[in-house]
This record gives sequence, C-alpha cells and structure tokens, in this order.
Amino acid sequence: MPEPTLFADRMLSLGLARVSEAAAIASAKLIGSGDEKAADQAAVDAMRNQLNLLDIKGVVVIGEGERDEAPMLFIGEEVGTGNGPGVDIALDPLEGTTLTAKDMPNALAVIAMGPRGSMLHAPDVYMDKLAIGPGYPQGVVTLDMSPRDRVERLALAKGCGTADIMVCVLERPRHETLIEEIRGTGARIRLITDGDVAGVIHCAEPEKTGIDMYMGSGGAPEGVLAAAALKCMGGQIQGRLLFRNDDEKGRAEKAGIADLDKIYQRDDMVTRDVIFAATGVTDGSLVRGARRDGEWLETETMLMRSKTGSLRRIIYRQNNN
Ligand code: FBP
Repeated sequence: MPEPTLFADRMLSLGLARVSEAAAIASAKLIGSGDEKAADQAAVDAMRNQLNLLDIKGVVVIGEGERDEAPMLFIGEEVGTGNGPGVDIALDPLEGTTLTAKDMPNALAVIAMGPRGSMLHAPDVYMDKLAIGPGYPQGVVTLDMSPRDRVERLALAKGCGTADIMVCVLERPRHETLIEEIRGTGARIRLITDGDVAGVIHCAEPEKTGIDMYMGSGGAPEGVLAAAALKCMGGQIQGRLLFRNDDEKGRAEKAGIADLDKIYQRDDMVTRDVIFAATGVTDGSLVRGARRDGEWLETETMLMRSKTGSLRRIIYRQNNN
C-alpha cells in the first residue's frame, strides 16, 4: 500500500485538542502544589498516552529534551499508531511549570503538528525573539534593529505614539538593559514571570490582551511553538539562536543547524501548514484554566489551523470522579 502523504489537518485537529486537554487535566491536579516536576510529569504522561491513540506516524521534533535526558516525549521519539500521515510534532506538555506549581496565570498545555519535515529542529538553547501581531507590513520591525527603533517603527505603523505601545518581556536579570531601553522610548512593558509562548500569542490579539509586541530571549523550542501559533493567527515572529558555550553550539550542530547566526522568520521555523492546540492549565488571558465544578472538570482549548486561519475555542467537560 502506498504511504499516506496527505497531512489530514482537518481530521487531525480535534484529536490534537484531545491531546492538549489531557495534559492540562492531568497537570491541573497539581496546581498550587509547589511541585513543578510532578506537574510536568503528569502532563507528559497524559499527553503521550493521547498522542499514541492518534492515527499518525509522528515524530517529536520539539519535545522534552534529548533522548538521554528525557524518558518520554524526547526529541526523535515516534508517537501515534503508525497508521496515517507522517507528521512533525512540537510540544510542551506544561508550558509554565513554575506558574502551575505556584498557581500563577497563563500556564498552558501546548502542541503543534505539521507534515513531516515542516518544523525547525530547534535545540534546547535560548532564542532571541521578536513578535508582533497581524496587519503590519512584513519586516516593519526586525531583530537587527535596536529596541528603540522597533518601538518607534511599530508606533508609526500603528499610527500612535510610543506611549501607546505595550511590549511584553520576560522578567529576567538578563533583560534589564532591554527593559530600560524600551521604557526610554516612552513605551510600556507587561512583565511576565514565565510562559513566553503565551507572551508571543498575546501579540496576535492586541485588542483583547493590550500587547503589541514581544521582545527578549527565552527557550528556542518555545519559539517554534509560538511560530506555529502565529502562522495560524497571523503575525510575525523572528528568532535567532543564542549560545552560551560550545556544548550549546554542539546541540545545534547535532540538530542539523549549520548557520548558527541565522535569523529565522516565522515561515522558516514552520514551513508548511500546521495545526495548533493550547489548553489552559491556570487561568490566563488566552484561555481559562482547568477548573473543577462539582463532579465535573472543565477545560478551555484554542484549536487553530493555518490552512483556513480558523480558531475554535472548545470547552470540554469530563466527570471528575
Ligand atoms: P518551563 O515551563 O519549562 O518552566 O518554561 C517556562 C519558560 O518561561 C518559557 O516560557 C521560556 O521560554 C523559558 O522558560 C525561559 O527560560 P528561563 O526561565 O531560563 O529564562
């Protein structure tokens, strides 16, 4: 029988929502527990179980780590029943382990799927990221510009003053200068303590979130997941890998990356159509967190397809007993 080559994105998308729902439900039991590892492990186990029910020949390209570091959902792990299209999978069963352990907003279970060979195999290093929402000319802001230029160019394109630009930044000591430079333009900053996948997605719905631009460094794997989301919602993201030592450069070379200084555009990170699901673990501005309501457990999921630009918000309930 010939190999199925079609990426059945329409058919697979509901299955993908089930996968992120399962991860969110499992980790939600550990919200506020202070135990990041247990929350992450619960999400990983549940996500893997659900993934293995899908009729796909899946390979994890963005996962929990290298094979020798992560017992499950490691990079290169094959998932699915083996019957169906060959697909690349990028996942973060619990994006915001600390947010979950401390019951802080915006923890998500996240997964994206595309045809085989369509996603950047980003190593687990940092990535400098810059993102804006839809509706702007391509390249209106770039990673090569100074933070001041980015704010001023975006304000001009938006038709507002710099004081009306809100930038989202991860609160980290490494971002002190960046924060100073952004504030020096008069722009305002929404600091987040974790969760830059959500941080970037916020740019795609500025009227709802109030965020116009995302800047700063975070995990490269999270950069690819955010690129998948923006490919569905519209918007631009650029990323450049950052290396702190030779070991990290080695990781990139092992992942097949030759040009270590390359600036990746959104469509370099996710080259073909993609589907994306994110389920809330704790309450956030994108989706509500998983919640118990008497005997019911309820989740909210954003499910998107880049082919159609469709976005479903799915409320799922299951018996909690
Ligand atoms: P985890 O869920 O793995 O803890 O990641 C959370 C996160 O905030 C990401 O969203 C972000 O990309 C990364 O950590 C930033 O890394 P660091 O905490 O080292 O600055």
